[in-house]
Amino acid sequence: MDHRRSHNPNSGQQNRHSAHKRRRDDTGRRPNHHQSQSGSTPWQNPLCSRGLSTRRELYERDFPVYKQPVEVGCFSLDSERRFFNDSRQLRYYAEPDRNPHFDLKDGYKDRYVKRDENLKEKLDHILRWILSHCPYVDFVTWRGHLTKLLTTPYEAREGWLLAVTRFRGTLYISEVETEASRRERENRTERHAEMMYWGYKFEQYTCADNVHSLPDPGGVVNTNEGFCTVVQTRLSDHRLLFSGEVDCRDKDPKAPAPPACYVELKTSLEITTPKQFKLIKWWAQSFLPGVPRVVAGFRDHDGVVVAVETFPVSKMSQLIKNCWKPTVCMNFCCDFLSFVKQTATEDDPGVVYLFSFEPHRDVTYSIHRDSQYSFLPHWYVDEITRSQLSPHMPSCYHAFSSLAV
Ligand code: A3P
Ligand code: MG
Repeated sequence: MDHRRSHNPNSGQQNRHSAHKRRRDDTGRRPNHHQSQSGSTPWQNPLCSRGLSTRRELYERDFPVYKQPVEVGCFSLDSERRFFNDSRQLRYYAEPDRNPHFDLKDGYKDRYVKRDENLKEKLDHILRWILSHCPYVDFVTWRGHLTKLLTTPYEAREGWLLAVTRFRGTLYISEVETEASRRERENRTERHAEMMYWGYKFEQYTCADNVHSLPDPGGVVNTNEGFCTVVQTRLSDHRLLFSGEVDCRDKDPKAPAPPACYVELKTSLEITTPKQFKLIKWWAQSFLPGVPRVVAGFRDHDGVVVAVETFPVSKMSQLIKNCWKPTVCMNFCCDFLSFVKQTATEDDPGVVYLFSFEPHRDVTYSIHRDSQYSFLPHWYVDEITRSQLSPHMPSCYHAFSSLAV
């Protein structure tokens, strides 16, 4: 079943089953990773008394309405991470042999330019795109942040921190790196660092720069480069605008329009079927923007791709029965967004509501004013404020309101 087209007539009643609940904070002031990030920790705030349960069984109900995602634009990031309001970095899928023997180690030492992970771009690229397109939506975020929300009820390893600011009625969601994730990043083994390269190298073996060219495995892998789709959709009564990186598109000119022509590329050690925890992430990442297929390169321990297989996203949850349910993922995300709407009420670009999740615990939040968590840049706040005051600009804010999502 294609859940994107499942319009659940009862979805308006889903608050009957809301998983929000009262949760007192007075026993929760254990030392945790937030404390070293801020003078005021999430747990010291007296307002931090409500939580959202992450227990799967609370989200096992009808699939919520999720409108077919519509691509409303795109942008590109070049080899120096500069923003371009166009598709110059879009690549074309070149179908490889089923048993290609791609060596993913090739070029790691001498043809790899790695993006600076210490630079936190937050929502900046999406905000730049918004300034020239002016949609009006409830939520603005990265697809990757929504992926984390979808998989939360099944997440047993990694927590997350999401900063939320309400500005001119729109809720902006931007991730904050957890202390655990920062430590892991800074203490990566050389082996792990090399394995991170392998996924990008697989992309280079299977993507061409234009319709008529072939992949160039002798070139440089530069992870600053990227093509991002911007999609608009609606989950129940939440109007969403998010952006996500797209690996490549079908090169057939008769292929369906974006996002249906996009292809997600993945590598996996497990031959034939990836592990469940990987599969749920693959599904969530592609389902959200409406990318219909994932091409998986199965590799050996030595980084050689020995088999390639295509997985339709719509069939992924049935590959291994009874492990995870798309409806649980989508209902949790929907309830989280309702929780955010209800919580983040102060409309102020300097105020951050910091939502926090640790595996097997409720989602909790704390409030921070003009703190290190503020993430809406001055250039964005000033421009939006100026354009909304200008008599020449109001139409900008209605340009997308007529979109049927
Ligand atoms: P794989 O997904 O094949 O491992 P994406 O698939 O999302 O387009 O990401 C491309 C590649 O970036 C990944 O390929 C992986 O090599 C690397 N990558 C992305 N996120 C990562 C993470 N959190 N940890 C390790 N590697 C990551
Ligand atoms: Mg990929």
